[in-house]
Amino acid sequence: SMFIKRQNEPHLFKQIGKITRKDREELNDNPSFTLWLTGLSGSGKSTLASEVESWLFEQNRRVYVLDGDNTRLGINSDLSFSDEDRTENIRRVAEICKLFNDAGTIVIASFISPFINDRIVARNLIGEDSFIEIFVDSSIETCQKRDVKGLYKLALDGKIKNFTGVSSPYQPPVNSDIHLSTDQMSVSECLNTIAEYLTSNHLIR
Ligand code: PPS
Repeated sequence: SMFIKRQNEPHLFKQIGKITRKDREELNDNPSFTLWLTGLSGSGKSTLASEVESWLFEQNRRVYVLDGDNTRLGINSDLSFSDEDRTENIRRVAEICKLFNDAGTIVIASFISPFINDRIVARNLIGEDSFIEIFVDSSIETCQKRDVKGLYKLALDGKIKNFTGVSSPYQPPVNSDIHLSTDQMSVSECLNTIAEYLTSNHLIR
């Protein structure tokens, strides 16, 4: 079989199989890509991820949601909410997105991903053409008012440290591919916006 020798890791050899991503995409009759949802806790990422997943699944698309709460209970259970650990969290999940895409599956990645640079790292890893950044934009006031999980109250009471938007920063995207103002838009309006984007960019056949 073929292999490529890597410069900086002299004892590792990248293995290349006979079946390519393109082969898998052709089998699925659809390209694979990553929809990357970024936004504050409680902005609506998980709700939207679930709706988009159902919509794609109903059209027989292979699709899978990766979510911060779930991956932090599993593969990333060693990580905290320090800046450094959030960076490592995003690096790992971006690597997972890349694997899923290579396996021909559409990924909906739902992570606060508060740092611009970490999202750039994810974009570069996953690939410019396969990475669609969606800013799930809800004001901090609305998120705090909703407080579905009760975490903002705990954070404001000082019972959770490094909480995004309270005691840890959120750097909003400056040029996201899709900007959803979830304060003003309904779930179905958001879904329609995403569907239109995917159709007009030939990501859904
Ligand atoms: S990050 O910043 O991208 O690494 O975060 P993520 O992996 O998406 O995890 C966010 C969810 O973890 C819960 N949680 C916290 N969020 C932010 N800050 C702190 N300190 C924190 N502690 C726990 C919370 O349920 C987040 O879920 P969402 O869906 O965003 O509300």
